[in-house]
Amino acid sequence: MVTIWTPDLSPFNGPKYLALADAIAAAIASGELVVGAKLPPQRQLADRLKVTVGTVTRAYDEGRRRGQLEARVGSGTYVKGPDQPVPIVPAGGPLALDGAMAPLGPQAQMMSEAMQSLAKDSHCLYQCLPYPQDNGLGHQRQAFLRWLNDAQGLPVSDEQLLLTCGGQHGISVTLEALCEVGDTVLCEGMSFPGIRMACERQGLKAVGLAMDSEGLVPEALEAACRQYRPRVLYLTANLQNPSCVTMPKARRQAIVALCRRFDVWVVEDDVQFVDPANKPPAFFSLAPDITVFISSFSKRYSGSLRVGFLLFDAKLRQRLLFCLRASVWTVSSWQLELVSRWLSDGQMQRLETWLSEEMRARRRLCERILGPGLLQGDASSFNCWLALPEPWRANDFARAALEMGVKLRTGEDYAIGRFAPPQGVRLSISQPASHALLEEALTAVKKLLDDGPGLSQAIL
Ligand SMILES: Cc1ncc(COP(=O)(O)O)c(C=O)c1O
Repeated sequence: MVTIWTPDLSPFNGPKYLALADAIAAAIASGELVVGAKLPPQRQLADRLKVTVGTVTRAYDEGRRRGQLEARVGSGTYVKGPDQPVPIVPAGGPLALDGAMAPLGPQAQMMSEAMQSLAKDSHCLYQCLPYPQDNGLGHQRQAFLRWLNDAQGLPVSDEQLLLTCGGQHGISVTLEALCEVGDTVLCEGMSFPGIRMACERQGLKAVGLAMDSEGLVPEALEAACRQYRPRVLYLTANLQNPSCVTMPKARRQAIVALCRRFDVWVVEDDVQFVDPANKPPAFFSLAPDITVFISSFSKRYSGSLRVGFLLFDAKLRQRLLFCLRASVWTVSSWQLELVSRWLSDGQMQRLETWLSEEMRARRRLCERILGPGLLQGDASSFNCWLALPEPWRANDFARAALEMGVKLRTGEDYAIGRFAPPQGVRLSISQPASHALLEEALTAVKKLLDDGPGLSQAIL
C-alpha cells in the first residue's frame, strides 16, 4: 500500500485551507517534502484529513501563490525547485572594462542550492546562530584547511589560518599587526589602490618601486631597503594588478633573500583569480616564516562574498587575531558556511574550472579583435595590460575611449607615491556581462589603436 503524506494540521491556526498551506510550507522547510516531491491527489488527501476537496484545492492554490508548489498538467502538484537564475548585469555601464570582477555564470545557482541545503540543516542553522567561539566554526576551519592542502598546495596548520572579511580586510589587519604609525611599506610602483588606502588610513608611508617584465626589480628593492628601513614589502606576484605580470621563481627567490637580509616582512596578495596550473611557488611556500599570505573569494566567486583568509607563521597568530577582533570582532558564520560547503563538495573547484574556460574564451575574442600578442596576462586572467603604441599617452587614450563609451584604467590610477607609470592601460575583460558587449568594447579599443591620437590640441 502506498503511504500518503498526511500532515498534522493541529499546530496551525486559521481556516483549514491556510492551515494545510502552512503545513506544506513547514514540511518543505524541514526537508520532509523535498524539491520535486509529488503531493497526494486532492481527493485522497481530503479523505485522510476529513476536509472537502475544495479545501485541498485552495491550499494547493495558496502554495502556488507562495511560489512553493507547481501544478503539472495531467500529472499533479509538485514541490517547486528554485527559479532559473537571471544573469545580472554588473554595475558600471555596458561598456565598462574598468573593474576586475568575476564573470557571472553558475554562482547564482550555487548560492540557491547552498541556501536550500542550509535551510534544511537545522543542526547547522543552530551552530551558526551564536557568536563563534573561535575564528569560524570548527568544521568550517577544517574545510578551509583541507582545501588549502588538497587543492591549493598550501598545507598549513589551524594555528596558521585566520578567516577574514575579504582581501581588503586582510590587508588592513596585516598592516596593523606588522607596522607602527610612520613605518614605510614598499610596494610595486603600480599597485592595487586598496594598499594605498590602507597605508593612508594607518599613517604609513607607501613607496612605489621599479618594475620590469618579471615584476618588482630586486635592485630597486635593495636601494629602498637601505633608504627607508621599511617594515613591510607588499606585492602581488601572480597576475600583478594592473601590469598582469607573473613573477618567475628565480625573481621571487632573489626578493626573499633581500627581505631576509634587511629584516622585512613579505605581505603576499594572491586575491586575483589565477589558473592553478599557472602558479609559480608562493612566497609563503618559499619563506613561510617571514610571509603573510592574503587571499579571498571575491575573484573566485563574486565581490558580494566578503570571505578571505590569511596564512602566516604561527608566532603572528595572536597579534593578527587581536587586530581582526578589533576591526570586525568576527567573520559571519553564515558566509563561512556557504563557502566551506562549496570547498568541501567540489562546487568551488567546478566554478574555478568554469571561470578558467570562460576567461580563455574571452581572451580568444581579444586576440581575434585586437590581434595576437598585444595583451599582457595569462590565458585566463580577468585583467589584461595593453602597452600603448607610440605616440599614444595613456590619459589621452582613456579619455578617447570614454568618448566612445568605453571605461578603462590607466597605470596612473595605480601609481604608488610619485611613481611614474608606463604608458599603458588595464582592460578588465572579465567585466562585460556578455561576449557581445566585450566585443563592442574591444572594437572601440581597436579603432583607437588603428586611428592613433590625431593632432594635438593647441593649449595656451
Ligand atoms: C590585488 C587585490 N587585492 C585585494 C583586493 C580586494 O579583495 P576583496 O574584494 O576580497 O576585498 C583586490 C580587489 O580588486 C585586488 O585587486
